[in-house]
Amino acid sequence: MGIIKPLPDLLISQIAAGEVVERPASVLKELLENSLDAGATKIDVQLEEGGVRLIRVADDGGGIAPEDLPLALARHATSKIASLDDLERVGSYGFRGEALASIAAVARVAVTSRAQTAAHGWRIHNDLPPTPLPGEGGDRNGAARRVANFPVEPAALGGGTVIEVADLYYNTPARRKFLKTEATEFAHCDEVLRRMALARPDVAFTLSHNGSARRRFARADFSRRAKEVVGEEFFPHARPLDAVAGPLRLSGLAALPAYSRSGRDEQYFFVNGRFVRDKLLTHAARQAWADILHGARHPAYVLFLGLDPAGVDVNVHPAKTEVRFRDARGIHQFVFHALQRALAAPLAAATPAAPPPAAPATATFAPPRQSALGVGEPSARAYLEFARAAFAGDAAATGAPAGDGAAPLLGYALAQVHGVYVLAQNSAGLVLVDMHAAHERILYEKLKAGFDAGPPATQTLLVPLLIAASEAEMASAGDHQETLAQLGVAVAPAGPRELAVRSLPALLAGGDPLALVRSLLRDLAEHPASRVVEARRNELLATMACHGAVRARRQLTLPEMNALLRQMEETERADQCNHGRPTWVQLSMDELDRLFMRGR
Ligand SMILES: Nc1ncnc2c1ncn2[C@@H]1O[C@H](COP(=O)(O)OP(=O)(O)OP(=O)(O)O)[C@@H](O)[C@H]1O
Ligand SMILES: [Mg+2]
Repeated sequence: MGIIKPLPDLLISQIAAGEVVERPASVLKELLENSLDAGATKIDVQLEEGGVRLIRVADDGGGIAPEDLPLALARHATSKIASLDDLERVGSYGFRGEALASIAAVARVAVTSRAQTAAHGWRIHNDLPPTPLPGEGGDRNGAARRVANFPVEPAALGGGTVIEVADLYYNTPARRKFLKTEATEFAHCDEVLRRMALARPDVAFTLSHNGSARRRFARADFSRRAKEVVGEEFFPHARPLDAVAGPLRLSGLAALPAYSRSGRDEQYFFVNGRFVRDKLLTHAARQAWADILHGARHPAYVLFLGLDPAGVDVNVHPAKTEVRFRDARGIHQFVFHALQRALAAPLAAATPAAPPPAAPATATFAPPRQSALGVGEPSARAYLEFARAAFAGDAAATGAPAGDGAAPLLGYALAQVHGVYVLAQNSAGLVLVDMHAAHERILYEKLKAGFDAGPPATQTLLVPLLIAASEAEMASAGDHQETLAQLGVAVAPAGPRELAVRSLPALLAGGDPLALVRSLLRDLAEHPASRVVEARRNELLATMACHGAVRARRQLTLPEMNALLRQMEETERADQCNHGRPTWVQLSMDELDRLFMRGR
């Protein structure tokens, strides 16, 4: 007598359920997907006890015909695909015909539905033990069909479908032990709903828990929905993007580093409308932010990748949260570049942080006449250099209104606060600039651009700068002489404990050369010499920019401040410094009025 036996159907379904139904949130995900596949425009979700006691999803979709109801609960029965060809270019969320059967194997399920042509609704539920069909034996297929043989009864329903899933895991207590607290399970359900809501702003959603309303998303356009779902805080820092390359399209919102997170909780990536957690896409995004975001912080985004369904396999994960791309490399490149471009777009090209005011009087906007507070000795050597370069290089940088009368995005400087912040007025209100951070960013971008173009322009020092050096610094200078030369820093030993700096990159001539060289030596010593400069070039340039940038507590003149503003507008990624801090903030007139409780 053999020992291999076919499993009973219920057990087969319970095993399958283990993969699909991990917790209440996974049930909710399947039900929402079914409603969307059925063309719903309004979906109402009710949860009890974190979804363990009850998950009820009501939609206004196309409904299920009474004769199809038993099949809806049967395994491997679907209305969505019929052939391998369909599977390869599937456009619906569902295609396996497995979700409801799996759920019905581990919970009490009732489906009430009214197809458009039906005179009233019909209901099927699995509360009763299934009755075998006459003449059916104990073979596996017979068993599979039998499990769906629940009675179908008439029911009152206006339209659409209501699915109730009660007492999850009532018959598999071992699994129930893995569930977390009610609050945690509810939070997971809420997250599932938020993802769906982001993917489908054209659909209205409500969510209640234990009788109290928790979410209400009216039908909206994407940006309004994103604001509601991801939050008001995210929105002002989010750059919209929409990039197309052949059959690929990446659209959505990407937050500038001024809004970053300590976790990955605000990373929403959708592939053809399906929320995924995909290593390739996450990696491409991570890289796009690498240059502007501190390593310990995580970017926030809501991104939609659209492509030909034939180019992506969605049938690789039981919960369909992972996908496989046919052209993985091409997709990685495309996503990385599209994001990097969106994040780097100069301020002037991006939508202003605050909407321009309606008042026509502000259309022509003249620089204010106030003089800087406490104009003292013009000690900002770095800034003078910088301002001179700015004036010489570009007429728009003079701080005067541009020829076409358009007001510059960052407006005109008013004054400097404690040698740290520049105050400016633009058409939306008040602008505050962290001058060191802003200058650092500008220098960094200039250094990068300069190095891309060829060997850096250097400035030979009239008198070599002598530095008393430690043994480690002496060694580092010896080991990395060539690297330093490539960076435009000529440094050589001048004695047993002394280094002589003979030239510096011209861009940084006004900074603090001593600190610059010391930091570079330290940076270089910390990493094995084998690591190519190319790979670490940007890190080194960032170090240089930091020391080349004007220090706080330097007094600037108004033209210098205006030159800084104009340069910021033209610099890529100017709204954050190399450390991911913001370089400027806008206070709108509304915000100022609110501060003073001025009713307008
Ligand atoms: N809310 C609904 N409105 C209309 N039809 C539905 C609804 N929910 C389920 N159905 C019908 O029941 C069938 C079975 O649903 P089920 O979720 O088990 O499988 P599926 O969606 O086809 O595939 P998958 O297992 O990948 O989700 C669907 O193919 C669909 O025809
Ligand atoms: Mg489904």
